[in-house]
Amino acid sequence: MNVLVTGGAGYIGSHACDALLKAGHSVVLYDNLSRGHEEAVRILARRGGARLRFVQGELSDGVRLGEAFTGGVDAVMHFAAHANVGESSADPVLYYRNNVASMIPLLEAIAARNIRRIVYSSSCSVYGQPADHLIPLREDAPLGPISPYGRTKLIGEQMLQDVAAALSARDAAPAMTSLRYFNVAGCEPAGELGEDHDPELHLIPVVLRTALGLQPSLKLFGEDYPTPDGTCVRDYVHVCDIAAAHVLALEKVSPGETVTLNLGIGRGISNREILEAARKVTGREIRVESAPRRPGDPARLFASPLAAERTLGWKPCFTQLEQIIETAWKWFQAHPRGYRA
Ligand SMILES: NC(=O)c1ccc[n+]([C@@H]2O[C@H](COP(=O)([O-])OP(=O)(O)OC[C@H]3O[C@@H](n4cnc5c(N)ncnc54)[C@H](O)[C@@H]3O)[C@@H](O)[C@H]2O)c1
Repeated sequence: MNVLVTGGAGYIGSHACDALLKAGHSVVLYDNLSRGHEEAVRILARRGGARLRFVQGELSDGVRLGEAFTGGVDAVMHFAAHANVGESSADPVLYYRNNVASMIPLLEAIAARNIRRIVYSSSCSVYGQPADHLIPLREDAPLGPISPYGRTKLIGEQMLQDVAAALSARDAAPAMTSLRYFNVAGCEPAGELGEDHDPELHLIPVVLRTALGLQPSLKLFGEDYPTPDGTCVRDYVHVCDIAAAHVLALEKVSPGETVTLNLGIGRGISNREILEAARKVTGREIRVESAPRRPGDPARLFASPLAAERTLGWKPCFTQLEQIIETAWKWFQAHPRGYRA
């Protein structure tokens, strides 16, 4: 298939482009490079040859987006978005503009061209702060995002589902899959594609930056949660497993089906376990400062991956925390300052 991947120059999108190329698909990578990396595009172009076409463009620019669709597109994978919870609270308008309003030309193109396969990057943030008895979290858990970011992700799901329903009424029903990722982590084992956010707020990269001496210590937010070691528990899923789920969604969900799936390994890992595993993998001391709990952080959050397993036959390959950290450590050692290094 020829797949249009928005946000393909970013962390998860670049790994998904690579998985698509490896599975024999062709990719039109559409990205404005606002938070993505030209170097990631270069790596993918070298690997994909003629099967990778890069169109630099802004999602809200319908004319430029139209150029990306020329030559025929069978499927759309929509990753492009801003994805920083704190930034979304400080500047909600930026998030509603970039993650919601900018989607309109994409929705128009999908509807006008009867695109038959759509995969959307959603997030566990659509659930907000679920009650502890709902963990491991299933897809039918109540929705209640508590940040503007989480709300934009939910609105994105709903807009795409509405367009899919309208296409179904025209006998052009697409396969519509929303994938709600938990904490995505790690880098490809080959060590070329990696994670480079600015600022970097995800725990594993922050821990590894501290191990490299790029920052003196890291903050551990809350050590008095009702969890075995007092620190927050989350579900860390490897970026290559997320990429593999996208390829499966493309190939296994049939036109006419609307599917929403949680993607996690189904096990909780505490902040302290991350630290201990990182100390073991890196062999470095990693200094920690105690900090108060952050508002809105639930004690435990991890997925039930059963629906993804049943629907897609998806089973994460990276189930051990140390494996995940090793792949990230390899990349961070080679790229201490990200793709610029
Ligand atoms: N990283 C995670 O743990 C995580 C968890 C759940 C969901 N997600 C979702 O996954 C997707 C990708 O996240 P990521 O961590 O790879 O982010 P990222 O910032 O690394 O990648 C996003 C890409 O989209 C591009 N982009 C953003 N706005 C654009 C626009 N208006 N027009 C064109 N291109 C634009 C950026 O340049 C960047 O290359 C996002 O939709 C995010 O909400 C991420």
